[in-house]
Amino acid sequence: MAWKTLDDMDLRGKRVLTRVDINVPVRDGKVTDATRIERIAATVQDILDRGGKPVLLAHFGRPKGERRDDMSLQPLIPTLERVLGARVVFAADCVGAGAQAVVDNLADGEVALLENTRFHPGEEKNDDALATEMAKLGDVYCNDAFSAAHRAHASTEALARKLPACAGRLMQAELQALDSALGNPERLVLAVVGGAKVSTKLDLLSNLVEKVDILVIGGGMANTFLAAQGIDVGKSLAEHDMAQTAREIAEKAAARGCELLLPRDVVVAREFKEGAESACVPVEKCPADAMILDAGPDSVAHVKGAIERAKTLIWNGPLGAFEIPPFDAATNAAAAYAAERSAEGKLVSVAGGGDTVSALNKAGAADDFSYVSTAGGAFLEWMEGKTLPGVAALDQG
Ligand code: 3PG
Ligand code: MG
Repeated sequence: MAWKTLDDMDLRGKRVLTRVDINVPVRDGKVTDATRIERIAATVQDILDRGGKPVLLAHFGRPKGERRDDMSLQPLIPTLERVLGARVVFAADCVGAGAQAVVDNLADGEVALLENTRFHPGEEKNDDALATEMAKLGDVYCNDAFSAAHRAHASTEALARKLPACAGRLMQAELQALDSALGNPERLVLAVVGGAKVSTKLDLLSNLVEKVDILVIGGGMANTFLAAQGIDVGKSLAEHDMAQTAREIAEKAAARGCELLLPRDVVVAREFKEGAESACVPVEKCPADAMILDAGPDSVAHVKGAIERAKTLIWNGPLGAFEIPPFDAATNAAAAYAAERSAEGKLVSVAGGGDTVSALNKAGAADDFSYVSTAGGAFLEWMEGKTLPGVAALDQG
């Protein structure tokens, strides 16, 4: 591990200012998916076990520097208390006298939760003065928010430079998984990249063709690549203005010896709705009035063959319009096979970013993947080869 972790810190009697990402989905005041809260539990428990006082710093939503009742962290307390198994004491501001009093009065075994950092305009500006105020509330800084590490904000970047700064357990697990997938992977390395648009994943594709041995492109993005080869994709979602870019990525892949896998057969339909009448056709045979909504069985067989050859898999994005059956078939089948190879110990599989986790959950495959990231944007930026400011600011190990 290149960065310091909780193992390198003396925590006894120390206030551990811990940046977490508990930006969880909430409906009618209730948390609908507690995954991100569950994934910080090991860090909080570890701090408590070693006699430290966890003081949680977090953002919630995008309040843009204003105090907004609908973006308070307070409604998360019951879920936090249930998952962490500890009393959580709330401070209505992340800096100042009120927060100071909460931290000073924290009993052993209790956890402090400070209000949404983004209520302060200085947070997103990575403001040094705000970070100085935050730093008064801790002796040690621990960043466990990998999924917010692509933001250079006061609580993720400037603050890390004011206190001894280490990675929390979740941050550590995320960094180790990413390293095993793209940093120091076992070869062959296979990347599966799906999703709607090439234009949002240009940097990612350019970086991947340099690093991986096989690249599977799926979803709407594949249509753009097919159209760029002169294939008529009918009414399919495709970015025709990206044709030149798609050709350049394909050329770069060829020059680097990266095998590019595009669909060979496709599932087409005239309507995008559940149970719509659909047909499977060779990729050159998409009717002019139809849309490509999924990869076909022959394509899935090729993806499975690639999974079988690979020792490492990195997955981002679905292969088809997975939200609506039957257009989830290719994603489900490929994900299930990757899960099976992983469970057999034959594949290291790492997934993350955007829709990926919900697609894998829907396929029932997430549990058997080697690692499923909690991150959306941060995972993508890391796949693009970018340095994440919240990681770079941690102390070197
Ligand atoms: C996320 O949900 O992706 C992270 O919490 C970061 O949130 P942001 O995209 O609002 O910075
Ligand atoms: Mg985001």
